[in-house]
Amino acid sequence: MPRHGRTVEEIITDKRIDGHLAPRTSEAAIGGELLNEAIAGNKGSIVKAGDILDPLADFARSAAQTLARNPKSLEPRFLYDARGSKLFDLICEQPEYYLTRAEASILEDHASRICEIVGPTTLVELGSGSSVKTSHILRVFTDYYGMTHYVPIDISKAALEQAYQNIARQHEAVNFIGINGSYECAFPLLNQITPVTVMFFGSSIGNFGEEEERIFWTSMAKCLTRGDYFLLGVDLVKDTETLEAAYNDKAGVTAAFTRNLFARMNREFSSNIELDCVEHEAEYCEQRQRIEIGARFTKRQIIEVKPVAQSFEISANEKIHTEISRKYRLDNLIPYLSGFGFETSLVLTDSFKRFALLLLRMVKDR
Ligand code: TRP
Repeated sequence: MPRHGRTVEEIITDKRIDGHLAPRTSEAAIGGELLNEAIAGNKGSIVKAGDILDPLADFARSAAQTLARNPKSLEPRFLYDARGSKLFDLICEQPEYYLTRAEASILEDHASRICEIVGPTTLVELGSGSSVKTSHILRVFTDYYGMTHYVPIDISKAALEQAYQNIARQHEAVNFIGINGSYECAFPLLNQITPVTVMFFGSSIGNFGEEEERIFWTSMAKCLTRGDYFLLGVDLVKDTETLEAAYNDKAGVTAAFTRNLFARMNREFSSNIELDCVEHEAEYCEQRQRIEIGARFTKRQIIEVKPVAQSFEISANEKIHTEISRKYRLDNLIPYLSGFGFETSLVLTDSFKRFALLLLRMVKDR
C-alpha cells in the first residue's frame, strides 16, 4: 500500500509528537472544578474522564460479551487504539472516502456564517480524532472573537495528543482542553457550559443504532441550554456503488483498520488469531439505509480472550460485525431532530449533495 513511497505501516508508526509542545496531563476525574480551572488556565491540557475503567479489562469484558452473542460483534470504540486512530486519519485521505473532503469543503465555505450565527461560545467536539477539520473553524472563531475555549472529547489519548500538536502550533488564541473519554463524558460537562456549540462531524452519529441515537439526542437535549447550538455532519443516502467504494478503498486502508481490531486482540489478549484469514467486509443495505462493516473469517478460528479466561469459536465464513454507518435523508432528519427540541438554523451541502452540515439550535428549556 505505498503512499508517497511509504507503506501504511511506516506512516502510522511515525512518531509525530515532540516533547516541548506536550500538554499538561491529568488523570483526575473531570468535573466542575477541574473544568473551570482548565478553562481559566488558558494553557491547554488533556484530562482523563473519571469513569474510564482499566482499559484492558474494559476491552476484554466487552469483547467476551459481544463475541458470545449471535451474530457476533465487537464494539466499534475499540477500533480506535493509537494505531487504529492513525489508520482512520489515513482512511479520510483515501480518494473513495469522499465524506471528509465534502464536509471540510462545506466548513470552509460557511465557517464565517456559522461563526456569526452562534456568536462567541465554547466549542465542544465529540470524537474529535486529530482535529484536522476543526482547525479552520477555530481560525475563524479566534479571528472574530479572540480567545476561544476548545473542548475536544475523544476515546483515543494518542489522537488527542496529536490534536494538541495540530492546534497548539497554529492557534495561539485557542485554549485546548482535551477530554480523554467516551461520548457520554460530554453530558455532565455540557450541563456546566453555556453558551456552547457542540460539534459532531464525520457522520459519526450514523455509527449509532436507532435506539442509541434516540438516547443520544434525548440526553443531549437535556443538558443543552436554550440558545445553545449543535453542528452536525451527516452523510446522505446515495447510490450503492459510491457508498460501498467509500468503505472498501482500493489501497486497503479500511481493510487494515478492520484487521487492526483483531491485531489489537492479539497484542493485548494474546488471542492467537491468524490475521491472514480476517477479511474486511462492508456492504450497503438499501432497506436499512446503512453500511454494515465487519470481518469475515475464511477459516475456523479460536479467539482467546485471556484476561477473562474465555475463548470463542469462529466458524469458517462467519462474520464478526464491527460497525454500522447509517445514511440520512434530510426530509426525515430535520423533523426527527425537531422532536428533541432542535430547530434547524442552517442546512449546508457540498456541491455534489453527498454530505450535509446542519446547524441546530436548542429551542427548548432544560
Ligand atoms: N464515522 C465514519 C463513517 O461512518 C466511521 C468509519 C469510516 C468507519 N470508515 C470506517 C468505521 C470503516 C469502521 C470501519 O463513515
